[in-house]
Amino acid sequence: MRTSKRARVLAGTGMFLAVVLSAAVGLGQETRPARPEEKKEAGMATTLDNLMTAYNGESNAHARYVEFAKKADEEGYGQVASLFRAAARAEEIHAKTHGDVIKKLGGTPKADLKKPEVQSTRENLAAALQGETYERDTMYPDFMKQAKAEKNKDAMRAFNHALSAETEHAKLYKEALDNLASWKAGKKDFYVCPVCGYTVAKIDFEKCPVCSAPKDKYEKIN
Ligand SMILES: [Fe+2]
Ligand SMILES: [Fe+2]
Repeated sequence: MRTSKRARVLAGTGMFLAVVLSAAVGLGQETRPARPEEKKEAGMATTLDNLMTAYNGESNAHARYVEFAKKADEEGYGQVASLFRAAARAEEIHAKTHGDVIKKLGGTPKADLKKPEVQSTRENLAAALQGETYERDTMYPDFMKQAKAEKNKDAMRAFNHALSAETEHAKLYKEALDNLASWKAGKKDFYVCPVCGYTVAKIDFEKCPVCSAPKDKYEKIN
């Protein structure tokens, strides 16, 4: 009699625990962010997808700016050509960083390189400004949000580096576009951080303001 009562108590406790546990699991499913594979099933972009998109974008931006630099030289805008070369180097650094994170996540970086559409230097600057503005205001902030939700620190760092550099590129392109006539003669020196791609016309800091790399690591490009 005692044994069966004890068994009933144990069974009751077990059921109680099962109910509590399943409720906890249920709650967990409602509150935690979706895992990458679940996002995949739902057709949403994961951080790995976003890294691939960014890798493709940066690779194409690099190719585009190399061509824009040639065109600027042809048209006698030597200083604009320098800016395009510096920005091209920065985009190359971003592509490399994104690619490294993709590999770390088990993916293979792939870029679909399109033939750049080259117009006049004024138009190329306007197109470049538009591209950087989109990356600064929309693309990278969205990618950062997703990487944060997935707690992917490598991706957050890669996206933050690109976001900071694109913000500076947009400023420099705008400056060139607004003062095109004075961006003609000779070349202009720019400095690019080899770690994060931050691009400046003047080094007035000891360490990279974005990634803290020492200033003497900056590459001079003109
Ligand atoms: Fe850029
Ligand atoms: Fe940096």
